[in-house]
Amino acid sequence: MAGLVEGKVALITGAGSGIGRATALEFARQGARVVAADIVSETAAETAQLIQAEGGEAASVLVDVTDEAAVAAMVDFTVAEYGRLDCAHNNAGILGPLSDIANYPREEFDRVLAVNVTGVWLCLQAEVRQMLKQDAPDGGHTIVNTSSVAGLVSNQAIPAYTVSKHAVIGLTTSAAQSYGRQGIRVNAVCPALIETAMSMPFQVDPDKPSTTRVRQAIDRNGQPEEVAALVVWLSSAASSFVTGTPVRVDGGALA
Ligand SMILES: NC(=O)c1ccc[n+]([C@@H]2O[C@H](COP(=O)([O-])OP(=O)(O)OC[C@H]3O[C@@H](n4cnc5c(N)ncnc54)[C@H](O)[C@@H]3O)[C@@H](O)[C@H]2O)c1
Repeated sequence: MAGLVEGKVALITGAGSGIGRATALEFARQGARVVAADIVSETAAETAQLIQAEGGEAASVLVDVTDEAAVAAMVDFTVAEYGRLDCAHNNAGILGPLSDIANYPREEFDRVLAVNVTGVWLCLQAEVRQMLKQDAPDGGHTIVNTSSVAGLVSNQAIPAYTVSKHAVIGLTTSAAQSYGRQGIRVNAVCPALIETAMSMPFQVDPDKPSTTRVRQAIDRNGQPEEVAALVVWLSSAASSFVTGTPVRVDGGALA
């Protein structure tokens, strides 16, 4: 049976770890050729190797998403390697410190916005420029940005992150409106707590029930693969009428 994204070319940022690695693997399992991009070149290369070990096609590239020239080079690398760019997952992100607004260090605020907002902006811009040069594949070109439930409601422990993930939804809806007629669909995924390196400070310890944690309908941490499945569906022709939408993958946390 053909995969959901058979023959497409997918570029994933933050692909060296967590949600990005799971998404890269799922894209490959569903038939895509994959470029795994990360600021840590070793982990991006490991992701490509994991895909190759499963019989998939993948390459890796070093990128700092805050560096405009590096982002352009990442897209050029994808086209040089596989001839085109069909699906992008702008997923690289950082959490920043846990602090209230009054005590939040200015330089940390700038860094969180640089990676989570400017980084997504620069990637989106470079990806759209490439996609506009190509014929749209079945289901259109797709871009999926990783926001968060913190893009929909506040999380007072991480105010800069909350600001940044709200902005990712603004970028998503703006780009979707701008490029829908040209065959580019742009959506966002909004995960709640997913078991990755980033969420360590918040993870649920089943042996230590928290009295402060909001109970989710599905009362456990999410897994990166559960986000990956949604990203790949949003990148496939199966979601051909879905654009400009932040989609929650949160175990019902905001239900
Ligand atoms: N884990 C969660 O609970 C959760 C929940 C909601 C949203 N998210 C979002 O999911 C995305 C992935 O996070 P994760 O949980 O997999 O975390 P992670 O820390 O495991 O992975 C993030 C990856 O991004 C890379 N990265 C960081 N800065 C970069 C930069 N400037 N350029 C390129 N790559 C860079 C890191 O090297 C790392 O490989 C992030 O945008 C995060 O905000 C995570």
